[in-house]
Amino acid sequence: MKKINRDGANGSFMLDRREFIIAGLALAATSMLPNIAVAAPTKQPQMLARRKLGGTLEVSALGLGCMNFAWAYGPPTDRQHAIKVIRAAYERGVTFFDTAEVYGPFLSEEMVGEALAPIRDHVIIATKFGFEVDPITEQRRGLNSRPEYIKRVAEGCLKRLKTDTIDLFYQHRVDPNVPIEDVAGAVKDLIQEGKVRHFGLSEAGGATIRRAHAVLPVTAVQNECSVWTRDPEHEVLPTCEELGIGFVPWSPLGMGYLTGAITPSTPFDPQSDLRAGFPRFTPEARRANRPVVELLQRVGRRKDATSGQVALAWLLAKKPWIVPIPGTTKLNHLEENLGALKVQLSAKDVKEIDDGFASIQVQGARAPEALLAIHDIGANLGTSSAGGHGLSPLPRQDRKE
Ligand SMILES: NC(=O)c1ccc[n+]([C@@H]2O[C@H](COP(=O)([O-])OP(=O)(O)OC[C@H]3O[C@@H](n4cnc5c(N)ncnc54)[C@H](OP(=O)(O)O)[C@@H]3O)[C@@H](O)[C@H]2O)c1
Repeated sequence: MKKINRDGANGSFMLDRREFIIAGLALAATSMLPNIAVAAPTKQPQMLARRKLGGTLEVSALGLGCMNFAWAYGPPTDRQHAIKVIRAAYERGVTFFDTAEVYGPFLSEEMVGEALAPIRDHVIIATKFGFEVDPITEQRRGLNSRPEYIKRVAEGCLKRLKTDTIDLFYQHRVDPNVPIEDVAGAVKDLIQEGKVRHFGLSEAGGATIRRAHAVLPVTAVQNECSVWTRDPEHEVLPTCEELGIGFVPWSPLGMGYLTGAITPSTPFDPQSDLRAGFPRFTPEARRANRPVVELLQRVGRRKDATSGQVALAWLLAKKPWIVPIPGTTKLNHLEENLGALKVQLSAKDVKEIDDGFASIQVQGARAPEALLAIHDIGANLGTSSAGGHGLSPLPRQDRKE
């Protein structure tokens, strides 16, 4: 069949004639009915390049972060609007949706579940356990990855996501009270029961990833990574490459900063916007870090791309098993972010960004001390988890006590 090549998209933006027509019809139909449930198509229009996580889980090369509909950078979005944006992402070829029990809490999962229910079989839903949340008061009570708790959380996630299986179930943070082997064992049980398909870790370091992977293959690691947050390059990306694990960078747009839309005078509401308390987002740090945005804009001018698109294209160009999940609550931002798949960065462009970044001293830590303390990737240990065993204690029989 004749291929229509809309190339330039970091790999394949290939549609055959039939797929192209189906995709066009689907888009036309859904844009006329923006608030009505998206009917499940007989064939998923392959409008975006696909990538594989852990060699087996196929997803669109860019996913959609769904935290922001419920929490983090402002008050929750109107539910119908959130559903519309999530479905719009699907209509444009996104098949990978990221949420967590704690986003809201519960609210992000509810929105994702409702938005994707009519097209459940055509999408991959990733969610996360690991923070204890009181089901009645919704109060967050620190970390909890005890096996029995993971299993209880899974039941709640399945209900809110309106599904009978979670495609990718991540541990949100490594629990310093529970051996990672026990966590992997609990997820393994859930997989055997058909309630979960794949296992993931978030903010885990190399040592923890290796121990977990020895019990149950890890499909994806989700850590913060972007042009201005390079921590995973140290030990996590090499570990993923060695073990054949996919990598899902969170905050790939630097919580919005790399788009250039945030200036020293952008207001952050301390009641609802986490960035109000983040060292990198003080007005001084925002002013001092502007050269990072300018570097991306410089490369972008040659590619007819925005700085945010270059930031995403840079991650995509690093490895074919990296799948960024930019978060947005706005349709125009969604469109812009997906445009990153058309931005082709050469090895020379990537080097220009890396060399340029190396000469910039980023001001301000990526998170406040209390949050950094529960990251397992070495931030709290020095620069690496190598040589230790990560935050997670060793299983009982191996502990030297
Ligand atoms: N595993 C973890 O611990 C963890 C932690 C944090 C996040 N995550 C996941 O990762 C996803 C993405 O991370 P993130 O949301 O923290 O950061 P991000 O994707 O780097 O940036 C999101 C911010 O950028 C803004 N934005 C997005 N596209 C834009 C554009 N084209 N132009 C201007 N502004 C734009 C968004 O605002 P608008 O809504 O106005 O577009 C939002 O404030 C989350 O949604 C969540 O699913 C995981």
